[in-house]
Amino acid sequence: MSKRIPDELLEQIQKNADIVEVIGEYVQLRKQGRNYFGLCPFHGENTPSFSVSADKQIFHCFGCGAGGNVFSFLRQMEGYSFIEAVSHVADKYHIDLPDHVANAQISSSHQEDTADHKMIEAHELLKKFYHHLLVNTKEGQNALDYLRARGFTDETIAKFEIGYALDSWDFVTKFLEKRGFDPAMMEKAGLLIQRENGTGFFDRFRDRVMFPIHDHHGTVVAFSGRSLGDQQPKYMNSPETPLFHKSKLLYHFHDARMHIRKRERAVLFEGFADVISAVTSGVGESVATMGTSLTEEHVKLLRRNVEEIILCYDSDTAGYEATMKASDLLGKRGCKVRVAMIPDGLDPDDYIRKYGGEKFRNDIIDASVTLMTFKMNFFRRGKNLSDEGDRLSYMKQVLREISRLNGSLEQEIYMKQLAGEFSISLDSLKEQLELFEKQQRQEAKSTQEESGLEKRRAHLSTQVRRKRLRPAYENAERMLLAHMLKSDDVIRKVLDRVGIEFNIDSHRALATYIYALYEEGKEPTPQHLMNRIEDDVINQLLTDIFMIQVGDELSEAELSDYVKKVLNHRNLSMIKEKELERAEAERQKDFFKAATLAKEIIQLNRSLK
Ligand code: CTP
Ligand code: MN
Repeated sequence: MSKRIPDELLEQIQKNADIVEVIGEYVQLRKQGRNYFGLCPFHGENTPSFSVSADKQIFHCFGCGAGGNVFSFLRQMEGYSFIEAVSHVADKYHIDLPDHVANAQISSSHQEDTADHKMIEAHELLKKFYHHLLVNTKEGQNALDYLRARGFTDETIAKFEIGYALDSWDFVTKFLEKRGFDPAMMEKAGLLIQRENGTGFFDRFRDRVMFPIHDHHGTVVAFSGRSLGDQQPKYMNSPETPLFHKSKLLYHFHDARMHIRKRERAVLFEGFADVISAVTSGVGESVATMGTSLTEEHVKLLRRNVEEIILCYDSDTAGYEATMKASDLLGKRGCKVRVAMIPDGLDPDDYIRKYGGEKFRNDIIDASVTLMTFKMNFFRRGKNLSDEGDRLSYMKQVLREISRLNGSLEQEIYMKQLAGEFSISLDSLKEQLELFEKQQRQEAKSTQEESGLEKRRAHLSTQVRRKRLRPAYENAERMLLAHMLKSDDVIRKVLDRVGIEFNIDSHRALATYIYALYEEGKEPTPQHLMNRIEDDVINQLLTDIFMIQVGDELSEAELSDYVKKVLNHRNLSMIKEKELERAEAERQKDFFKAATLAKEIIQLNRSLK
């Protein structure tokens, strides 16, 4: 497949591209020495073992072994084909691809891709049409009035591409059919609904303000329609479809990503109406879940991009509870959580409408509090703290939370705060705290026994893998490969003396790729190789080998030592086996068999280099 793109063109694209920049769009990277480090997007982790080298233009994860160049990254991250990855990078760096390559990209897509493509096309088409109905037609006037009354400006309506779905059962059905879209497919896309008697389809969204929902690349993959009055449900969302996964998608993420990176924080809301208001108030780093609670997948996506998350949920009981749950999940994945608290039982959107965007930014978002302060507020709700019983139950709740903190400095701060609040001695509070901590340890022990075991085991196995001592012949093969990546001269010598007699399959495969490029007269640089190799395992091996620090020169003595270890390995293990067999034969007094084996052993010994 890669043969369709000339190597010179690939080289040109790679010269212009910056792997740190491309990966930086997915993973928050920090410079450390010569390399950049971040959390690996291919396996769950809380401490960064994912490295990107700007010099070598490769990435490598020391935890899970993932690795490759800029194209392999996009293939693994986005599920792109090689050509798709290449055209994505070319596009980003404004390099024109020849027509046959651009076309190949389209013709190589599977049937599934074309179905997805059609569904996307329908969404994009409808988005434009709904928007037109809202802003230009008499039928949309009512909806426009509703939005204006809510404080939506023309600018906001344009920026968020808001629209209106007509009060009709079949307008969209006919509209799509006329343009050649298969109704059954449009039903799968969530735009139509099949009649119960199976005789056709009708429009899902009728007489609603339409909000397009973009995936993380900015493609419209779903809609949410808000009723204009009290019709239920208030919001109607597209169902789960091949394009739209509520447990993964965050509203407005495609646009927020850049702001999140720049400001090093993300603000998370419950409703997308809140996001629209917040963004128009200058909080571009805003995102929201789509009518579901926060999932592991949302959290992983956020954590890959940023550490600090500000939760800005409704200030009602449901909102408080959702904040508690979300903060737990975020904390477990290593996020620093703060909470933006909104007064008077308002939701963020109400607050902005009432007090304006500037006050929202200054008094709510920038005045966000630590999670602990939020919790203290939460526990205080509905309690009368001058009442002895209420006070005690409040203190207990707070102490339990303090005992869950892991920094002792932090604990100290809140203990003092609590002691000050009720003018009790710090000592008696500490006594209480110790009691809670003991309980905590017991609880932790039993849950760890259930769920932690697996995690610890997995952790252990990567540790073992990392530190595992390799047998001499395996090391020799790796060293040979590492030197081959540096010098044509070594390739020639290894080709001569070892050929494809590598003992480990993946080593043999990599060597074969290197030989092939060498024989074509092309320089077998890791970058060239990565573009050829489509097997991820071999690609991972390649980056792993490439990370080995080897000197520029390989002496003859060192080379022949490695070659010997590689070639002798099979014979040495055969000798060992036969010696055991011979000992056994002698024990059984089968002298004929023992003599035959002895002869074979001598021959094998002779063939050792
Ligand atoms: N939601 C939903 N379906 C509903 C109600 C709510 O999917 N029937 C989702 C929407 O994403 C909504 C979020 O939950 O944005 C929060 O709901 P709610 O607080 O009730 O709505 P608001 O965002 O306040 O919307 P509005 O201001 O238009 O009433
Ligand atoms: Mn609201």
